[in-house]
Amino acid sequence: MKKINIASDLLLAYQELIKDDFFEISILANTTAFLNEILENINWVGFYLLKDNCLYLGPFQGKVACTRIEVGKGVCGSSVARKETIIVFDVSKFPGHIACDENSQSEIVVPLFVNNKIYGVLDIDSPILNRFNSYDQNFLEEITKILSKHLEAILK
Ligand code: SME
Repeated sequence: MKKINIASDLLLAYQELIKDDFFEISILANTTAFLNEILENINWVGFYLLKDNCLYLGPFQGKVACTRIEVGKGVCGSSVARKETIIVFDVSKFPGHIACDENSQSEIVVPLFVNNKIYGVLDIDSPILNRFNSYDQNFLEEITKILSKHLEAILK
């Protein structure tokens, strides 16, 4: 019960944070800063944005990362191809995982839809195994829904 209350407070805080912004990059940048502040045990959080069937590095917090990922490759490209969230409990067991930060041990990738089309993905890495569960998935999917709605309104 407590966890649910914390999550809804954080979702409200996030909504409040982005509500007056209309420049895409500022919104994405602050989204990564917000998540970096509230999530424990993470070492990378950022966006990859889809353009011409390829994912390009967007705003992020963490170590320098690969700048291009083809659709279908790595965890990010697989999430786009499957159009669904992927939780990787141990990145060494995910065939084709792309290692950007050697400290990353587990990962979650959530696709971001704008007007029903994939706009990019939210990618989060953790330095511990098994960091992400269905609770994180639900919370992050709610964050991306708020973000999608806002992007749909400003990108009209
Ligand atoms: N691990 C990702 C690549 C991006 S980094 O984690 C920042 C992947 O396999 O798609």
